[in-house]
Amino acid sequence: MNEKTNMETAVSPPANTNVTQRVNALLAQMSLSEKVAQLAQIGGADWNQGPKPEEIIRERGAGSVLWLNDTKRFNEIQKVAIEESPSGIPILFALDVIHGYRTIFPVPLALASSWDPTVAEQAQAVAAKEARAAGIHWTFGPMIDIARDARWGRIVEGAGEDPYLGAAMAAAQVRGFQGDDLADPERVAACAKHFAGYGASDGGRDYDPVYLSESELRNVYFPPFQAAVNAGVDTFMSAYMDLNNVPATGNRWLLRDILREEWGFEGFLVSDAFAVGNLVIQGHARDRRDAALRSLKAGMNMDMASATYLEHLAGLVEDDSLSMAEIDEMVRPILALKVQMGLFENPYVDETLLEKTVALPEHRQAARQVAQRSMVLLRNEGGLLPLSKEQTNIAVIGPLADSMEATEGSWMVFGHEPAAVTVLQGVRAKLPKATVAYAPGPDINRDIPHPFGEFDMTKKKPIQAPEEAEVAFETAVKTAQSADLIIMVLGESADMAGEFASRGSLDLPGRQEELLKAISALGKPVVLVLLNGRPLSINWAAENVPAILEAWEPGSEGGNAVADILFGDVNPGGKLPVCFPRNGNHAPLYYARTITHLPESSEQYRSRYWDSPTTPLYPFGFGLSYTTFEFSNLTVSAEQVKVGEHVNISVDVTNSGPVAGDEVAQLYIHQKWGSDSRPMRELKGFKRLTLQPGATQTISFQLGPDELKYWSTNAGQWVQEAAKFDIWVGADSLATLHTAFEVIA
Ligand code: GLC
Repeated sequence: MNEKTNMETAVSPPANTNVTQRVNALLAQMSLSEKVAQLAQIGGADWNQGPKPEEIIRERGAGSVLWLNDTKRFNEIQKVAIEESPSGIPILFALDVIHGYRTIFPVPLALASSWDPTVAEQAQAVAAKEARAAGIHWTFGPMIDIARDARWGRIVEGAGEDPYLGAAMAAAQVRGFQGDDLADPERVAACAKHFAGYGASDGGRDYDPVYLSESELRNVYFPPFQAAVNAGVDTFMSAYMDLNNVPATGNRWLLRDILREEWGFEGFLVSDAFAVGNLVIQGHARDRRDAALRSLKAGMNMDMASATYLEHLAGLVEDDSLSMAEIDEMVRPILALKVQMGLFENPYVDETLLEKTVALPEHRQAARQVAQRSMVLLRNEGGLLPLSKEQTNIAVIGPLADSMEATEGSWMVFGHEPAAVTVLQGVRAKLPKATVAYAPGPDINRDIPHPFGEFDMTKKKPIQAPEEAEVAFETAVKTAQSADLIIMVLGESADMAGEFASRGSLDLPGRQEELLKAISALGKPVVLVLLNGRPLSINWAAENVPAILEAWEPGSEGGNAVADILFGDVNPGGKLPVCFPRNGNHAPLYYARTITHLPESSEQYRSRYWDSPTTPLYPFGFGLSYTTFEFSNLTVSAEQVKVGEHVNISVDVTNSGPVAGDEVAQLYIHQKWGSDSRPMRELKGFKRLTLQPGATQTISFQLGPDELKYWSTNAGQWVQEAAKFDIWVGADSLATLHTAFEVIA
């Protein structure tokens, strides 16, 4: 037993005193060493080197423990913190709960494809309830990095390429995780990550340097983070990479000037894993002492797993490189969160709660509904879909058709055993009387195994020999031969997107396209279901496969949701939150670009490359339905408005087809001149609506300074300018229904 320090274990004042008073009272009792311990987040995984969490906590204490997913262990460690650590302050348990804890929801890129923030909020509320029941207080989500390079593996974790849609999804996920009262035992603290610009790494190569102008940062990459702050997010996480040659983890401009001074963020920052210590590797800090000093000065509250703060902060105060006040400033928001969450009053978790919580049927119902709303119909030539339920002889083919991992996708919580309903199981459940044959065809694998062992699927299955693959190929074709209809399930395995999962090509990995061609050559109807974490260059399929459904990584109920859509119980209404390049070499590719002096869309200059068109295979905002919609009657409330005033845009949306369905009305603006050239189109309003056949709904959008202002490179500040604006409203970023208005000084 560790001898007590010269004062009693820190016991916070009665709960009814306000948070600030309780935090100040705690600080007044704490030694420097105990304060430093609160700035340390220590690894709880088996693979963590060094002493066990209990040992560190017994000796020093800790602010938080991460990479542990064990309810019993949480209570054991918490007991040590409260009864044996010098300060007696409870621990925050943190884990990456990105799209579900036990009930897995579609990946965030799929949530964004719903274009329905309530869906994202609902998913993260269920994730929070399950995670908190497990004993987790804090999730490292939402990941809200804008991503415009589909080669970047972590595009799967965010909301795609657009700041307006990304901001809506960021706020919705924060609300879902946190609710409106952190004392609520069914919520967790959220963490807006990775601040900032991580998605713009050179070549889409994960962790590579990022070079972004201030206007690109402020107009494109910051808005989701600002939305998270405005939604009350409790914590932020800094990004790994160098941003304009200054690592985000030691970047004072980002962490203090922007996040605290400009945006008024009052929560706390945690670094990414080992990132404080990594400042030495990045050639930024001279040594770990220097790394600790520069991170702290830059405004980094908590050091994730590198122990750099634990080793050096006390010494930096003792030699006057840091003041006690600077330490206190970093500790305050951490203590405040623990007080707000009621950890002093209720530090332990009821170990019977989790199994009751995850068994709630409404959780899987929610996962199924969210998956239905997040899928995007990319092609449906000749109305092949929806399929008749009278089908009697179907073949489900492909390496992902019965893969629980691929169906649940990347970023599973540690220790999670995939248990998804696969597409094969979903089809069989939908048509219990039909013959539903199955053949995987050749395996697909990363060429370079995932460096984080437990994410590496190849560990679960030996690499298939070429001759085995050939047998599997032939078997798949034969299986297809004896069916009337074929459902191909192709795409990427779970370890092909996510962290450390960038790739140079966007083609279907392995021999999948070859198999698709061979089976299409049989002359039978073929439906392609994609399970993937990024846009794919499915150029051949886009021309030759009559029906294509983008299902992303749809989670625990993914297979049922796919079957619901394929057999017409649900009419798909999702839209792409990111465009699909025709080739990985075209990335980064995104719609909100300036026009240039030779617009790519002009007849004469049809492409930026001479060896292929550079328009996207599928544009941002694109998605089909089993019905059709018309947009009409686009009007503006005034031809002219003054700077600072608002203008209302209204449009009629009609379901002109045979069945009920959802459409997402999207509003795009273009400022025709200004101190800076402005993107040819920018999303500034969207609304998903459900319409019965023949029904018309009038919807309206409002445009004002918030939508029309931008950070001008030329002016070096935010501006809203007098200029003419084009307006388009329609079903995707190529919308043609047009009007205009003018802003005057
Ligand atoms: C990882 C990721 C980050 C995650 C953290 C903790 O390296 O970059 O998103 O939250 O470490 O697991």
